[in-house]
Amino acid sequence: MKKILLTGAGGQLGRCIRDILNTRSDMEYVATDVMASPSEGIAALDLTDAEAVEEIAGSGFDFIINCAAYTAVDKAEDDLELCRAVNALAVGNIGAAAARCGIKVVHISTDYVFSGDACRPYTPADPVNPRSVYGTTKLEGEWQLADSMQGQDYVIIRTAWLYSPYGNNFVKTMLRLGKERDSLNVVADQIGSPTYAPDLAQAIIKIVDSDYFEAGIYHYTDEGVASWFDFTMAIMELAGIRDCVVSPCTTEEYPAKAHRPAYSVLSKKKIRDVYGVETPYWRNSLKTCINILTK
Ligand SMILES: NC(=O)c1ccc[n+]([C@@H]2O[C@H](COP(=O)([O-])OP(=O)(O)OC[C@H]3O[C@@H](n4cnc5c(N)ncnc54)[C@H](OP(=O)(O)O)[C@@H]3O)[C@@H](O)[C@H]2O)c1
Repeated sequence: MKKILLTGAGGQLGRCIRDILNTRSDMEYVATDVMASPSEGIAALDLTDAEAVEEIAGSGFDFIINCAAYTAVDKAEDDLELCRAVNALAVGNIGAAAARCGIKVVHISTDYVFSGDACRPYTPADPVNPRSVYGTTKLEGEWQLADSMQGQDYVIIRTAWLYSPYGNNFVKTMLRLGKERDSLNVVADQIGSPTYAPDLAQAIIKIVDSDYFEAGIYHYTDEGVASWFDFTMAIMELAGIRDCVVSPCTTEEYPAKAHRPAYSVLSKKKIRDVYGVETPYWRNSLKTCINILTK
């Protein structure tokens, strides 16, 4: 029986992982988040509290899957201290406790560690250059984990453009706006790979299943590329929304507080080669999600 500590269990990815763990009789898990949710079986664990992390880590876990993060990208620009505490210092707390207790760690990071100036998919070995508080603190989190675990069993998975039936995300926003509005302008000069969080959750559980940890950084997104405009057109088409005209616009025409990478396509070669994970085509996964959300 594998024993897992799942952190950030109330967030989008955390909930997708719980959906899988709930079907696995060979895995036992404790779900935690910054706020307890007794109705969902989630206990309170603030990862910025090093003593609390140390204490729970001593309960005989084999794995920690860390889905917790400060993910409000624009708000982060004015909230460096808390963002750094959650995205960097807390990850150091996890790494230190895991190293002491011999626990393997899967931690999630982001495409925002890159500048987005590239024109071919980023590999895990490519130079980083974050241009936002969120990206900078997530990169610091990667460093904290690597430093604290000193080559012990950890895997960092950078991902991008997550959506799912849970929480607030781009797909749910566009489904709502598509019904409320006659027209929408959507950014067409930022390119990435829409990624269904349940697909990433499957990849994470496959790594846990393998029991083989080759310490380092990996990239996972769904397959294929799109702009936010392409993504929106696909959402409207698959959801049968025809009364909203979607038009492309530029990043300049739709300013945001935090810098977004113009190009955030990630190479999945390493995670495929080492763990044999599948990377479904993004439109196929989008169809699955829309079916769930519009049912
Ligand atoms: N969403 C994306 O498009 C995207 C893209 C690239 C990478 N990622 C990464 O993927 C991972 C999962 O993202 P997600 O979309 O599932 O994020 P999410 O829905 O925002 O979930 C993050 C969870 O962490 C919790 N949390 C915040 N501070 C905490 C603390 N001090 N201690 C314990 N838990 C805390 C949050 O609670 P509150 O909600 O109460 O704050 C939330 O439940 C994150 O590492 C994120 O950086 C996400």
